[in-house]
Amino acid sequence: MEINSNERKKVKNMIEYRIMTIDDYEEAYELWIRCGNGLNNKDDSREGIDKYLKRNPSTSYVAVLDKKVVGVILCGHDGRRGIIQHACVSPDCRRMGIGNKLVDLALDALEKEGINKVLLVAFKKNEGGNAFWEAQGFTLREDLNYRNKALAEMIRIDPDYVK
Ligand SMILES: CC(C)(COP(=O)(O)OP(=O)(O)OC[C@H]1O[C@@H](n2cnc3c(N)ncnc32)[C@H](O)[C@@H]1OP(=O)(O)O)[C@@H](O)C(=O)NCCC(=O)NCCS
Repeated sequence: MEINSNERKKVKNMIEYRIMTIDDYEEAYELWIRCGNGLNNKDDSREGIDKYLKRNPSTSYVAVLDKKVVGVILCGHDGRRGIIQHACVSPDCRRMGIGNKLVDLALDALEKEGINKVLLVAFKKNEGGNAFWEAQGFTLREDLNYRNKALAEMIRIDPDYVK
């Protein structure tokens, strides 16, 4: 889908936002692959995302243009902290405020669930993504080391780059 700059305002007004359901999976997955969101064969399988959305049914959103998913944010919480993952907007639709709106919707949904703080991780090399999070008010914690431990064997399935 090609959108020239004169159409941007019109397009922006045509975008609809709604809670993500598992029926959005195929289109969301295609976007994640295009955007280099750091996927693996377990958590990002249809079953993995279905499990996530069942546990967090009201905090993940999609942006839709002409019935096509052009933006996604996965968001949930563990009862204490919110976590945002896999935020992405189709390259054709960037810098129109879609990412910003998806974040606002996700944060509002978390607040409604009584969550007071939200975290996320972003690849250091993802300059655009980090600039975006900075603009959304997510501050960098220089005093922490991010650590994790895999409990199952997982295979990275996206190319190791960010477009
Ligand atoms: C990051 C991403 C979701 C932003 O989506 P978007 O819809 O283009 O973002 P917005 O239009 O809402 O941008 C809001 C503000 O964030 C900042 N911003 C967004 N993208 C930026 C970029 N590439 N470089 C610098 N600042 C950026 C700007 O301040 C922007 O406001 P402005 O356009 O008025 O200057 C999108 O670029 C994307 O999908 N990137 C690839 C995947 C990714 O990096 N995801 C997040 C990392 S976990």
